Amino acid sequence: MNEQHTLSATGDTDSDSIAAHFAHRATTFDSTPWAYDAVILSCFDSLISVSPTSRILDAGGGTGLLSAHFRERCKAAIILSLDLSFPMAQKALSKGISSCVADVCYLPLRSCSLDVVVLRQVLQYLQTPSAALQECYRVLRPGGQLLLGQFVPYDHSDQRWLKRILETWQPLKKHLPTSEDLRELLVDHRFRMQSTVQLDVFESLASWLDRHRVPANRRPSAFAMALSQRHHVTDRRRVLSRGDDILFSNLFHIIDARKPVEVETTER
Ligand SMILES: C[S@@+](CC[C@H](N)C(=O)[O-])C[C@H]1O[C@@H](n2cnc3c(N)ncnc32)[C@H](O)[C@@H]1O
Repeated sequence: MNEQHTLSATGDTDSDSIAAHFAHRATTFDSTPWAYDAVILSCFDSLISVSPTSRILDAGGGTGLLSAHFRERCKAAIILSLDLSFPMAQKALSKGISSCVADVCYLPLRSCSLDVVVLRQVLQYLQTPSAALQECYRVLRPGGQLLLGQFVPYDHSDQRWLKRILETWQPLKKHLPTSEDLRELLVDHRFRMQSTVQLDVFESLASWLDRHRVPANRRPSAFAMALSQRHHVTDRRRVLSRGDDILFSNLFHIIDARKPVEVETTER
């Protein structure tokens, strides 16, 4: 791998592992089924509050897939995608999206300078989600919108099951907040809850293992693990054997939260 591709914005080991992981995934990320799922995208469309002059930050925006989608919707808006991984940011740039390499926990942006911040599937990678939410709050103008989109466990028993699976197969994910955990986190960070949407999205285990580059010799145990645990899982998560593959449902949760209009502002 090109050394440049392991560069992270902060230089800590944890950020380096994430940057390296997404450096590998940058070329194929856009074929991740949930990332371009039409129902998820249209839910973001229905929630985002934009005008032609809106300034939007896609925080942890990856390859700019969501930014490019928003640009189609609102051509005059100013959209910036920011990501820890240089190759992911480069991909966004190649789509004509303004893009920079930085950490969502240290946003290189002025306080109260944005109308909308979007965080899709980023929070689970952060050592301190709190730091990112503080930064989102800081850079939003009073009344600005935070759109947080995230796969969440269905409930606490599902959270325990998922945790065991992810500890083995995707240790970079540090948090698995439930919908309720996310709501509490946002309220603790002074956001006002506006509305939420929840969607069931089916995922193929084979495709997930491919994307995470699980070697062929470890795949049988991944399948066995998913199947052997399934009876302990909440009945809301559907797990179906389909030929050589397993399909399981995931819960995607989108929260529209606002920075209250009546806040004290301190310019950076
Ligand atoms: C699963 S991808 C989601 C990409 C994009 N948000 C989307 O929905 O298409 C997670 C992204 O978060 C980025 N990321 C993880 N930790 C980050 C951090 N501390 N600061 C900025 N980006 C981060 C990763 O590099 C990766 O591109």
